[in-house]
Amino acid sequence: MNKENLQKKAKQILDANFNEDKGFTIPCEGLYPFQWNWDSGFIAIGFAHYDSNKAKREIEALLSAQWENGFIPHIVFHNDSDTYFPGPDFHLSKLHPLASKSHRTTGMTQPPVLGFVLKEIYDIVDDKENMLNFIKQNIDKVFFNHQHFYNHRDPNQEGLVFIYHNWESGTDNSPIWDDIWETMDPPNYKFERRDTTHVDAAQRPTNREYDYYLHLIEIAKAHNYDDAKIAELSPFLVQDPLFNAMLIKSNEALIELYEMIGDSEDKISTLKAWQEKAITRFNEKLYNEKLGAYVHYDLRNEKQIEHLSSSSFAPLFSNIPTKAHADVMVKTLIKKFGGEDRYLCASFDPESDRFNPKKYWRGPIWINLNWMLYNGLNNYGFTDIANRVKEDSITLIEKYGFYEYFDSRKSVTENAGYGGNNFSWSAALLLDLLKD
Ligand code: DGY
Repeated sequence: MNKENLQKKAKQILDANFNEDKGFTIPCEGLYPFQWNWDSGFIAIGFAHYDSNKAKREIEALLSAQWENGFIPHIVFHNDSDTYFPGPDFHLSKLHPLASKSHRTTGMTQPPVLGFVLKEIYDIVDDKENMLNFIKQNIDKVFFNHQHFYNHRDPNQEGLVFIYHNWESGTDNSPIWDDIWETMDPPNYKFERRDTTHVDAAQRPTNREYDYYLHLIEIAKAHNYDDAKIAELSPFLVQDPLFNAMLIKSNEALIELYEMIGDSEDKISTLKAWQEKAITRFNEKLYNEKLGAYVHYDLRNEKQIEHLSSSSFAPLFSNIPTKAHADVMVKTLIKKFGGEDRYLCASFDPESDRFNPKKYWRGPIWINLNWMLYNGLNNYGFTDIANRVKEDSITLIEKYGFYEYFDSRKSVTENAGYGGNNFSWSAALLLDLLKD
């Protein structure tokens, strides 16, 4: 497919997945029938390239479900659907006294991309004045969200926030969590999976993994989604390098946007203080010298989780590593993930015995992580390897279609696009990758 046809197809996918009535975009039909938090951010970047009104509506729809304490949930159930489990009746966000009164949502969040998304869409559109007005109307909501994180998700006040559920990480069933599952013994819940009616079960988490996922939600629900109780009791309490890198990148974008808006000195100095503390602690606590990249920190059990994943390189996107660390990280990336027989970048260390090239976040390539890696490598001047990440992303979509995730092995001869098809963020970020 030539560039024009790819762009045309990407726009068709986004437009078909956009719900005109409610103003949001599903990640893909059947498998994910609601609005997902970080998906929406990436989708807005795609829309900004050809329909800035939809980009704005996407963001407004997500913010319309913001809780009264600033929290922005991971799913907004704008509509009913019986094609997804667990739905609103399982999550019961209304247990929290400050949950959205107008929308049913989950009681967990996702990587906080909105801040940098606002800056990206501002940079993309032609009518800057119009977009800056939109940003002025919404930026304080994003600031409030960051404030909520630092006040309620950072019990040691060290500048790094925790996640209490693997679905908050965005990298839902990563092998990173396997050690945490070993510390838990949830009941065998009775439930009806819906995801495996849309997608081959070999590409999705196991039923036993769902027991862990549901159990963590049950613990949070038993305490009305109270962050302090969750910090005290959840067996899953992790400082995730991807999640914290997104927050730091979004802080940086908010500073730039408030500077453009003017008259915002208090907020800018608060953001700068958060940044300084967060970046210092991030480098002290999450960098792993032996592995040559960043890793997750298990806050419940007070130890680093020593595995490499695509999240290990996300800090490049947020200008967190020193140049010396960035040099080492690129060597690690090429050595472990970048063999000639592979497309970049697998979501989990291909040399690990936990690697699975087909299963959700246990190995396949994701376009959103590749988009971050491409931009992150460019930040540090690694343009050749950045271009390889970009070209690999385009090739995978051209070859297999707009799938949710892809096999990193070049040797695979059958269709190596997995998960949902006509996947919105793959379409949206392809539009951004093709922009020049
Ligand atoms: C799922 O159901 O797998 C979702 O990605 C959770 O966010």
